[in-house]
Amino acid sequence: MPVLPQRYTVTAALPYANGPVHIGHLAGVYLPADIYTRYLRAVGRDVKFICGSDEHGVPITIRAQKESVTPQQVVDKYHALIRDSFRDFNVSFDVYSRTSSVTHAEVSSNFFRKLNAEGKFIEQTTQQYFDEQAQQFLADRYIVGTCPNCGNENAYGDQCERCGTSLSPTELISPRSMLSGAHPVLRDTKHWFLPLDAYEPWLREWIIEGHKSDWKTNVYGQCKSWIDQGLHPRAVTRDLDWGVPVPVPGAEGKVLYVWFDAPIGYISATKEAFPDEWELYWKDAGTKLVHFIGKDNIVFHCIIFPVMLKAHGEYILPDNVPANEFLNLEGDKISTSRNWAVWLHEYLQDFPGQGDVLRYVLCANAPETKDNDFTWKDFQARNNNELVATLGNFVNRAAVLTHKFFEGRVPERGELLPIDADTLAQAAEFPAKIGELIENYRFRDALAEVLNLARLGNKYLAETQPWHLIKTDVPRTGTVLHVALQLAAALAPVLHPFLPDSAEKLAAMLSIPVGDWASAAQLNALPSGHRLQAAELLFAKIEDAMVEVQVQKLMDTKKANQLENTPIAASKENISFDEFTKLDLRVGTIVAAEKVAKTKKLLKLTVDTGLDQRTIVSGIAEHFSPEELIGQQVQVLLNLAPRELKGIQSEGMLLLAENADGSLALMQPGKAVRNGSSVM
Ligand code: 2FM
Ligand code: ZN
Repeated sequence: MPVLPQRYTVTAALPYANGPVHIGHLAGVYLPADIYTRYLRAVGRDVKFICGSDEHGVPITIRAQKESVTPQQVVDKYHALIRDSFRDFNVSFDVYSRTSSVTHAEVSSNFFRKLNAEGKFIEQTTQQYFDEQAQQFLADRYIVGTCPNCGNENAYGDQCERCGTSLSPTELISPRSMLSGAHPVLRDTKHWFLPLDAYEPWLREWIIEGHKSDWKTNVYGQCKSWIDQGLHPRAVTRDLDWGVPVPVPGAEGKVLYVWFDAPIGYISATKEAFPDEWELYWKDAGTKLVHFIGKDNIVFHCIIFPVMLKAHGEYILPDNVPANEFLNLEGDKISTSRNWAVWLHEYLQDFPGQGDVLRYVLCANAPETKDNDFTWKDFQARNNNELVATLGNFVNRAAVLTHKFFEGRVPERGELLPIDADTLAQAAEFPAKIGELIENYRFRDALAEVLNLARLGNKYLAETQPWHLIKTDVPRTGTVLHVALQLAAALAPVLHPFLPDSAEKLAAMLSIPVGDWASAAQLNALPSGHRLQAAELLFAKIEDAMVEVQVQKLMDTKKANQLENTPIAASKENISFDEFTKLDLRVGTIVAAEKVAKTKKLLKLTVDTGLDQRTIVSGIAEHFSPEELIGQQVQVLLNLAPRELKGIQSEGMLLLAENADGSLALMQPGKAVRNGSSVM
């Protein structure tokens, strides 16, 4: 196996501070990055784990517009929420900064200035849509219009979300500004472009020749296809009033493009937290730089940022960019705007102290090579079958039996039988196996091996049966528990990167430190006579009711989305005022109600209309019970010609509002009025 470099810079994509973080973020980026970093620390590497909030760009200004607040208020709110979620899930960043920091403005401005001074940009004037009412240029996302491909009237300037086509704003039919609704006009504007095409030969050599075998196939494939399609100069400035101002004369009102400033944020965050040593982590050829990202960020981290770094000349390049695919939720794409997500902060409110369970499930089911699905049923099953019944059960049995038979002290180890020696030899191989998988970014497989180590322990206990053995052979029982406890102790360091809280709980129960990676293979963490702490359950069973609440939450969301998306029926043909006045609409009170025999839908209502008490038959039995209707004031159409329904004469009609999901609401006056009052 190749020897690991000594120094690492590990970055995790800077999340946009425009919403809370959800399970897709954790599974795709932050959890694998955290496992990797924790492992590197456990094998004694010098590593800095860098992240922060991405606080610039259109995603922020759009959210501000939606919430009717300032962009600054948006980033302040979500930066805090995201930072706390990561902290609560034990994502062990060495720094979690933000791109609104002073250091970042300085570092990104200097980066731009250097490239500009050295003639690394092309300046070009192009035409862009301008909103004359709002007096500003419009980012692609601020322009909507009709999609030339499918006719969707609400396609964005960069993409039609109905048919998926990528668009440029000038392709939209009848474009309109999202700021004012006005028809935008094309105006000249100057921008700075990074000539990606000029770096194509270098990119080919660096990625296509250099990283064919060590980058993940999804990452390599996307890069190759980008390069093969031909690279073009890419604008690195924007006309926007939110971001790092372009730091050269003649650029008033322009800011750095968010995808120019955000990756520099990794460097600024390192500099901010480690002002004396940051250069070692960004400029020393002995440092290995690894970017953890989601698949939508591949081109930015594998092509654009490396070209920026190369153009700058002083920085190291990423050694690997292990991007994951996407996680879906209950069969549907996770979406912030549709609220189709499990939000990390909400999960911890519903499952307090159980962050590790989610870490476990998200890693065991991580979208490493293809999109994957998170379901609450799988969450429950993995917790109950794997964490409780396999891992927790092994550790618990070893500890409980030691307390029961040996007063909580690690028993003496007698002569080893083949089964003991064999189990220890097998266990000793796990740390190297798990480590190698982690080094190759195969976190799911690595976690499966951690569970296999617990399975080995369970198998050993099942075969040696110390609970029976104690009746006939105390010293032999001691040897068995001694061996089992060494396995349990070896679990702590290898479990730690994945489930830090549980590993620490396990170590505390065994009264030892978690231990480094090398110690796990030695299987001698517990000397004979060592006193254990009281046995505690590492994991608790998750009952059906707990996940049913979560599934119901999602069903409610789905229903709310359906309601929102159902088009409202077009209006009917106009009628004259005279026609309207022919309707005799009144307020009445339902004084009696009963089901019409042998029907599913009909209720026979008696309504006090102020003029009389009359019978109205209404098809609402599936929506209201007779009891809940009695006493309600309602609106009725009095002068509908009487008609017979199931042998009952109905004289009028009850007015109801029908929701898009088919549910009904009574039309009631906002305050009590006299029966017989006219509705007009
Ligand atoms: O996709 C995103 O959420 C971006 N905010 C990621 C930025 S990564 C880095 F370049 F900062
Ligand atoms: Zn379309």
